[in-house]
This record gives sequence, C-alpha cells and structure tokens, in this order.
Amino acid sequence: MKVKAFIPAVLLLCFGVMLGIRSSCALQMGGDELRNYISWEDLRVVEDGRRERSYSIKENSNWLAPNANANANAANSSRVIVVDKNGGGDSVTVQGAVDMVPVSNSERVKIFILPGIYREKVIVPQSKPYISFIGNESYAGDTVISWSDKASDPDPDCVGQELGTYKTATVSIESDFFCATAITFENTIVAEAGEEGKQAVALRVIGDKAMFYRVRVLGSQDTLCDDAGSHYFYQSYIQGNIDFIFGNAKSLYEECEIHSTARRYGAIAAHHRNSESEDTGFSFVNCEINGTGKVYLGRAWGNYSRTVYSDCFIADIITPVGWSDWRDPQRQSKVLFGEYNCRGRGAERGGRVPWSKSFTSDEVKPFLGREFIYGDQWLRL
Ligand SMILES: *[C@@H]1O[C@H](CO)[C@@H](O)[C@H](O)[C@H]1NC(C)=O
Ligand SMILES: *[C@@H]1O[C@H](CO)[C@@H](O)[C@H](O)[C@H]1NC(C)=O
Ligand SMILES: *[C@@H]1O[C@H](CO)[C@@H](O)[C@H](O)[C@H]1NC(C)=O
Ligand SMILES: *[C@@H]1O[C@H](CO)[C@@H](O)[C@H](O)[C@H]1NC(C)=O
Repeated sequence: MKVKAFIPAVLLLCFGVMLGIRSSCALQMGGDELRNYISWEDLRVVEDGRRERSYSIKENSNWLAPNANANANAANSSRVIVVDKNGGGDSVTVQGAVDMVPVSNSERVKIFILPGIYREKVIVPQSKPYISFIGNESYAGDTVISWSDKASDPDPDCVGQELGTYKTATVSIESDFFCATAITFENTIVAEAGEEGKQAVALRVIGDKAMFYRVRVLGSQDTLCDDAGSHYFYQSYIQGNIDFIFGNAKSLYEECEIHSTARRYGAIAAHHRNSESEDTGFSFVNCEINGTGKVYLGRAWGNYSRTVYSDCFIADIITPVGWSDWRDPQRQSKVLFGEYNCRGRGAERGGRVPWSKSFTSDEVKPFLGREFIYGDQWLRL
C-alpha cells in the first residue's frame, strides 16, 4: 500500500536531516512540500513588509513545531523579520534577525531590512537555509551592510595571526537557497590593486543555489568571493579593481554592471578551478563592463580556471592581451578563457593572448543560459 511505504520513507528522510544530510534530504522531498527553488515571491514582501508579519516571529516556539496545516502550506508559507536600525522592527541589526531563524529552518524567512547603513559583519550559517535579504525595491543604495576588515588585520580568534582574505567578508552566506535584492554589500577598505594585505571582501557566498537580484557589491581588492556552489547574479552591480570577482563557484552573471575602479592595472575575474573534473566556472552574459584602468578580463588563479564573456559591452578598459596565466605558462593549455559576440573597444581581440578563445555560437551555448547553473532545478522565475 502506498501510504505505508511512504511513512518509513519520510522517517528515513527526517533521520537524514538529524544526521545533517541536509540538502539531499530536502531535494528528495522535492515538489511543493519543501520549497526547493527560488522564485520572485522570495524576493518580495507584501506591502511594506508589515502585513506579512502576521506570521510574526514573536512566538518563537512556533518555529520548532510547525503544525500539520503549516506543512500543508509550506509551498507558499514564509515568515518576515523586520530589521530597523531605529528600533521599529524585530531587530536593530541584520545579524540579530538571522539569529532569530531556527537551526534547520525549513521554510522561507524573509528578512526585510529598512533603509539605513548597518555597520556590522553578518554570517548566515550553513544550518539556516531559505533566507532572503530584502531591501527597498529599486533603491539598493539605501540599504547598506558595511564593514571594513582587511586581510592583514589581526585575527581575533587566533592571537598573532592575520585575518586572511576570506574572513574579511562583511557578509558571508554559508547556507543554501539564499536570495537577496535591493541591498548594498560593502567593504569600505580602499586600496590600489596589488597593495599588500589589503584584500577586503564585501560578500562571500559558499552556500549552494543562491540568487542575487539588483544588489550592489562594493569594494576594491577581492570584492566578491564567489566561492562555491551554483549562483545567479541578475541585474546587479559589482565594483572593484583586482580579482574583484573570485572563487570557485559556478555562477551566471546576467545583465550585470561590472565596474572597474583600477587606476592602472587590475583584473575582473580570478576563477579558482583546479582540476578538469570540477564543474565550476564564471559566465558573464549581456553584462556591461565599464569603469577605469586597463584590467584583465580574467586571471588563472587555478590551473583549470574557466571564465567566459558573451554578448557583453566592454568599454576601453581592458589590457589588449585580455587574460593572464598568473605567471604560470603551464596553465595556458588548461584554462578556458573565452569571449563571444562582445562589443565595445575593450572587446577587440586583436592583441589577445593566443591561448584565449573566440567562441563559436555552438561552443558558447552551454554558458549562455540558466542551464549553466542548473537553474531548471532551483530557479522558477
Ligand atoms: C522606499 O524608498 C522610497 C523612496 O526613497 C520611499 O518613498 C518608500 O517609502 C520606501 N519604502 C519603504 C518600505 O521603506
Ligand atoms: C502558491 O502561490 C502561487 C502564486 O501566488 C499560487 O499560484 C499557488 O497556487 C500557491 N500554491 C499553494 C500550494 O498554495
Ligand atoms: C561607461 O562609462 C563612461 C564613463 O563613466 C560613460 O560615459 C559611458 O556612458 C559608460 N558606458 C555605458 C555603455 O554605459
Ligand atoms: C597546477 O599545476 C602545476 C603544474 O602542472 C602543479 O605542479 C600543481 O600542483 C597544480 N596545482 C594544483 C592545485 O593542482
């Protein structure tokens, strides 16, 4: 009988959750039981966010034992936590709101952040999936999460050690199914490209299946640590001067503005793929590459670094060779650095290193759409 077979399966799956087999369990539940996808709904709060708070977090016990009805509606249910630095919400800090979300959270929690500059570091831990950060629609500049750690700062957790690049992140996203819109992520350290110890990350993403819509990510060196997982950056603005999009994620940047602030030299992407078997890469589609300097489109941080620009406008800010092998010529035959149908002075390929590729429409196809990041499995837009 179907019902009988179903119950042990559910028990098993839940056991999986307890053992920490987080994402596979969630994925098997599939369909509408758990919302294992990101949709526009997840990037919106009703009205000014206060009405949806009928699900308010004030009754904290509710979180832990959702009743049968709540489960039946899980596909669409969500909760809202309001962050207001002036004290009118549930929390005055963003981290405070994240802390209110229960561990092993299984429904969408929208953290609605009222305009203001939030000077704090924020970590969304791995144990808290399905979180949204939502600012005032179309005013990403009004809601800013800002800090100013740099790599050479002392590490408060390890006496005598430096913080290192990763730990400088103003905001770190470690959980899956995160999304954000209308927020500025900022690291205010200003440094010339190459200045020692001045790496300063604004946003680090190591959770899987994350979407960023109309956000701004501001920094100088190593602004966006796009570290691991599949990510979708849509209509967002990313600024820096060297390696300012770096890491080993598989990410699609669509209709984004990539803004270089390099005075002289610098680089946009530093992808960290280290073996042929790693299914990772950065794909820029329909982006606008602008700003100052003469920067590389990409540098081979890993032996098998993979970065592709398609249908982009590229201003006259690219060093003619276009790409760097990170001073290791052995990488030239292993990396995949390509361009397809880009326009603007910076897209002229006359001076390019010969080991970079000009793609044909067939070759570029796997990089062009949301399939690149398996969006059919987790994006419903
Ligand atoms: C969003 O910003 C606009 C323009 O600054 C303002 O009129 C509106 O009240 C804001 N909405 C919220 C919910 O803060
Ligand atoms: C969820 O919401 C969508 C759009 O608001 C609606 O079409 C759908 O029927 C809802 N699903 C459930 C299970 O309530
Ligand atoms: C690129 O930046 C320059 C200088 O700021 C500006 O004049 C130009 O309009 C920008 N190009 C595009 C396509 O936006
Ligand atoms: C990269 O390639 C070089 C030369 O083949 C090799 O010595 C090095 O170990 C490789 N690095 C990694 C991380 O695999």
